[in-house]
Amino acid sequence: MSKTTKEQSATEKDKLSQSEQHYFTSYDHFGIHEEMLQDTVRTLSYRNAIVQNKDMFKDKIVLDVGCGTGILSMFAAKNGAKHVIGVDMSSIIEMAQKIVDINGFSDKITLLRGKLEDIVLPYQKVDIIVSEWMGYFLLYESMLDTVLYARDRYLAPGGLIFPDKCSIHLAGLEDSEYKHQKLDYWQDVYGFDYTPFIPLVMKEPIVDTVESSLINTTRTKIIDFDLNTVTLEDLKFNVPFKLQAKRQDTINGLIAWFDNVFPAPKGQKPIEFSTGPYAAYTHWKQTVFYLEDDLECEKGDILEGTLFCAPNGKNNRDLDVKIKYDFKAGGVDGKERSVKNENTYLMH
Ligand SMILES: C[S@@+](CC[C@H](N)C(=O)[O-])C[C@H]1O[C@@H](n2cnc3c(N)ncnc32)[C@H](O)[C@@H]1O
Repeated sequence: MSKTTKEQSATEKDKLSQSEQHYFTSYDHFGIHEEMLQDTVRTLSYRNAIVQNKDMFKDKIVLDVGCGTGILSMFAAKNGAKHVIGVDMSSIIEMAQKIVDINGFSDKITLLRGKLEDIVLPYQKVDIIVSEWMGYFLLYESMLDTVLYARDRYLAPGGLIFPDKCSIHLAGLEDSEYKHQKLDYWQDVYGFDYTPFIPLVMKEPIVDTVESSLINTTRTKIIDFDLNTVTLEDLKFNVPFKLQAKRQDTINGLIAWFDNVFPAPKGQKPIEFSTGPYAAYTHWKQTVFYLEDDLECEKGDILEGTLFCAPNGKNNRDLDVKIKYDFKAGGVDGKERSVKNENTYLMH
């Protein structure tokens, strides 16, 4: 089997846009792969899903979209795949080749360097696609586009995608201390007024772990994606949400997370994992959208609205998010506490 080298890349990196070069360079270093490998919720979910489906992997041709260090390719090869093609644009694939070789999978795994969209696979069709493409807030990085391209171009009819179901969830939270610390800092920077930074800070969602005790509303699923059928157009969406306050408190942000489900043999519980605040830590943490308003809520008050999400026009790996909200407070002072607003964000 030929070795994967820099010279063999199907894509000339210099010809990619600056942002694409930057994106793939971010995966060159081993550190980011170390973090992903050490995320046991993530990595063991993939392994367990493949082991659970050993019968489906037996003698199958598998495509690993964005193989990184080759971990998913090796899980597939070890669990019966006839042959695995791993594709990656980043130079990490050179390490993957060494790892595949020293672990004795050289005959079972072929690694190809380049953008999947530029590579011609040695098989017309594959039986299974495995890919770990999820970004912060699920869709950041827009790598799902590549998986959908691979599905439409290479997946045989009836083929499987691991994972194949994802959903995004939302809840309200109180995090006044952190929110105001982040904003108030700009009020007085060494005696100077730096407040023009505040709108910029507000526009950036925060990726961090959130204590579930800070969540003060019901939670809701805002969207489901079935990877077997979802289209690129579906990745731009505007969805309604409705949350109910669970206690007297302040709602000053919305927290979002995503869940993933793998295919399972008939009658068996599928392997799934959540990146939410009620589940074990993952490197995706959660995403917090601070609201311009601090909404004084009483139990039962309703926060409803819409969440719009679309790839950014200038860099489609970034995400534009717009949250419109209508907070309907009850009680004698309900009218004064009710607020309508619209906040925009850029994840980049
Ligand atoms: C999140 S990492 C996952 C790595 C590995 N599969 C794992 O689970 O540890 C995604 C990988 O996909 C690669 N990638 C993203 N888009 C790609 C594309 N269009 N073509 C080839 N590789 C791509 C990146 O370079 C990166 O190494």
